[in-house]
Amino acid sequence: MQNRFRQFFGMEAALVVCAPGRVNLIGEHTDYNDGYVLPVAIDRSVLLAASPRSDWRVVVHALDFDQQAEFSLDDITPDAEHPWSNYQRGVAWVLQSEGFTLPGLNAALTSDVPIGAGLSSSAAVEVATAYAWQVLGGLELDRVRLALLCQRAENEFVGMNCGIMDQFISALGQRDSALLIDCRSLDYELVPIPARTAVVVADTRMRRDLVASEYNARRRECEEGVRLLQRYLPGITALRDVSPAQFAEYQARLPDGVRQRCRHVVHENDRVLRAVAALRAGDLDTFGQLMDESHTSLRNDYEVSCPELDALVMAAWRVAGVYGSRMTGAGFGGCTVSLVDEGAVEAFRERVASAYQAATGIAPEIYVCRAEAGVSVVDSGSS
Ligand code: GLA
Repeated sequence: MQNRFRQFFGMEAALVVCAPGRVNLIGEHTDYNDGYVLPVAIDRSVLLAASPRSDWRVVVHALDFDQQAEFSLDDITPDAEHPWSNYQRGVAWVLQSEGFTLPGLNAALTSDVPIGAGLSSSAAVEVATAYAWQVLGGLELDRVRLALLCQRAENEFVGMNCGIMDQFISALGQRDSALLIDCRSLDYELVPIPARTAVVVADTRMRRDLVASEYNARRRECEEGVRLLQRYLPGITALRDVSPAQFAEYQARLPDGVRQRCRHVVHENDRVLRAVAALRAGDLDTFGQLMDESHTSLRNDYEVSCPELDALVMAAWRVAGVYGSRMTGAGFGGCTVSLVDEGAVEAFRERVASAYQAATGIAPEIYVCRAEAGVSVVDSGSS
């Protein structure tokens, strides 16, 4: 990274920051319903090399696109020509709106988090950028606030109405553990990944443009569900407050589409808590079964899966030694996550790849992920 930075800026970077992507084990489309999620920060990450400048300019090289974008900190607007730079712009805009004074920046950026694959490549860029500014500018921010500000950049500047999960895990992830995050209180607990199990990601290699619009539409349906259920359950402010028993009592009062969306969220929250209890008890079969149920619910009720994700998941379900498998992230393409006995990883690679290829004509990407720590400085220059 230092060499690449020197190539563009003729000097050593003051620091190199590494922010991980993530894979979510269970708890999908629950974060923006004040619910529970169980993500893992992974060993696919964004590297950002940066040095402060003495003026108000920000110059960013996207090494993977071989492009450069430039803007001034006193006039931050979205850039349609270099959409990738809207993450830096959005982060700068939010930090400044919170009253922080930022130095100008020279930066170079590269990533091995596949883009648009449901592994939070954008959250990793936001968190890397915000952390670099925090360290270089001496900003007083804890990691939870850093995550919240990055989420705001994505909501208000980029225009994707995402929840807090991705930025939170990229900022606060822990090695060898998943995090159970309560997306209302933002309290979290470590949940160790059991020994001899592998977290395996399989990429459909399908990317679809409709993710943002469908995502925002699902959010609105959930809000509509809360509004309707409040007639019978006046104390609720989010689907998180509705138990499966309460839902069973009132679901008939909801219109069809909204009922399906709410059914997914209410039961998914319950599944996360049961899944964590199972993992802590070493009961991998129950954990895996809950992952499978999560997929079925995302496919049938939330309607965010697609034929390619279903093909990968069904192929994984047939391999002995696979505890569970489901789509991960927002959906409509991207990746699946599977919890696999270490001894079955090779069989998974072979059989899932050949079944998927036979069904779709596409060779999937399959990789075993290590649970990594959240954002950190990996090189602080020679100073
Ligand atoms: C995207 C969003 C997250 C979360 C997931 C679905 O990754 O960025 O906030 O809502 O989708 O669980």
